[in-house]
Amino acid sequence: MLQTEVINNEQDIEELEYIDPTLDLEFEILELKKKLNAVILAHYYQENEIQDIADYVGDSLQLAQQAEGTDAGVIVFAGVHFMAETAKILNPNKLVVLPDLEAGCSLAEGCPPHLLKKFKGRYPDHVLISYINCSAGVKALSDIICTSSNAEKVVNSVPENKGIIFAPDKNLGKYLIKKTGRDMILWQGSCIVHETFSEKKIAKLALEHPNAKIIAHPECEEAVLNKADFIGSTSQLIKFVQEDNSNEFIVATEPGVIKKMSENTSGKLFIPAPPESNCSCNECPYMRLNTMEKLYLCMKNKRPEIILDKGLTEKALVPIKRMLEISK
Ligand code: 13P
Ligand code: SF4
Repeated sequence: MLQTEVINNEQDIEELEYIDPTLDLEFEILELKKKLNAVILAHYYQENEIQDIADYVGDSLQLAQQAEGTDAGVIVFAGVHFMAETAKILNPNKLVVLPDLEAGCSLAEGCPPHLLKKFKGRYPDHVLISYINCSAGVKALSDIICTSSNAEKVVNSVPENKGIIFAPDKNLGKYLIKKTGRDMILWQGSCIVHETFSEKKIAKLALEHPNAKIIAHPECEEAVLNKADFIGSTSQLIKFVQEDNSNEFIVATEPGVIKKMSENTSGKLFIPAPPESNCSCNECPYMRLNTMEKLYLCMKNKRPEIILDKGLTEKALVPIKRMLEISK
């Protein structure tokens, strides 16, 4: 028997639950989906089996849009905490479960609401744009949310005469300053995964693959972005490799996206950009906490559940709705 740990978020008690290893998890998950009238939303960084069983696989904007439009009774979110939290803010009366509550994000963790509030207080006339990779507390303080898919549009929506604070990703912020020419005050947060790519190793790989195009997510550091032939959000990178004539790509983002890139193309080579050290730290350790076993258990037990304060939910909804409106 396989032993799996389940954390009950309401009581913070560790329970032990046994899963019969002969169980057909795929079948069980699909049965539970029918029983619960649930929708399974998964991010591109989830392991292949989870992407295969999901009703919808997308980037953070697409998943928020799916959550906004769903008529399912239960949302099963195979992604990280801030994404499931966004789905809950958009659906306060629905049950939203996340396979592992510990699936956080270094960007969200590096920007506590009380510190951002203090920071914001120094610039009372500025507009606060927050990247969706942040907590509900940070969203509640923000004027508008963005994702990497719509960040440029969101920045350009702020009147020219207004100052902007951008939080929490300094790399995306720097990239947006370059792209839009807007002078923004940046919170100094970063993604532990996208910061790990080694510019030198990418350059070496490019010499070995002279025909390969380098593509990168804007959460990467400036030195890596400067080497890139194309910069875009997860879904923009997937679209780019499908439409571009090249047959080889060095991919500077989480390698989970390579599944969709390979499915959408034929005979193209996708080379994951290497991290600085010889580890697997180009895989998001938070996203990868979710497993098929935990997905099954969270549907069976209807927990861990995302629970949010009503007042906070109402405040956080306003800047999310603004973003969704701009993205239509
Ligand atoms: P996307 O908006 O491209 O899905 O990015 C989310 C994320 O967490 C990237 O690390
Ligand atoms: Fe957060 Fe980085 Fe993981 Fe994306 S890849 S969820 S930004 S830690």
